[in-house]
Amino acid sequence: FFSSSRMMRRVVSSISASAFRTYAVSAGSALPSATLHEGTPAGKVDIADVCKGKKVVIFGVPGAFTPGCSKTHLPGYIADADKFKAKGVDEIVCVSCNDAFVMAEWGVAQGASGKVRMLADPDASFAKALGTDIDLTAVLGSVRTKRFSMIVDNGVVKALNVEPDNTGLSCSLAPPLLDSL
Ligand code: BEZ
Repeated sequence: FFSSSRMMRRVVSSISASAFRTYAVSAGSALPSATLHEGTPAGKVDIADVCKGKKVVIFGVPGAFTPGCSKTHLPGYIADADKFKAKGVDEIVCVSCNDAFVMAEWGVAQGASGKVRMLADPDASFAKALGTDIDLTAVLGSVRTKRFSMIVDNGVVKALNVEPDNTGLSCSLAPPLLDSL
């Protein structure tokens, strides 16, 4: 009995550590302020200002030009941009812990202009403020963000969907977020 209940506690605590991890923000939190870069490092944008008085979808990706982000995540939001706008979303923002030049060129390569704003979080300060930061040094060379989607209404987080395995392509994609609106 003791050994099986100890085993059960271990299983439950390992499930809690991954699937039920809580983040620094959740539904009802104010979106934290963080300085992001748009176009060049001189194009400083406070994400909290972007979300003032607007309904904004923000999605975070582990890396510009990586296969999952380029083939599925970003193209999905570009393809559904008009449907999000029809459901009252004023702006869609893609954030990645890359530099502003890389993010801008990724947006050009994907035809994001007018549909998805490409904001860089080079020092991962926004990811750290959300608690979605993850050390991907071994794979991508630096701290990045877990893959997530978020709805922010006038600066208040309405939903945060972080991939349970950190970088997978499921709950943070455009179709489930669109369906939730
Ligand atoms: C991707 O393909 O999206 C990816 C690749 C390596 C690390 C994280 C994500």
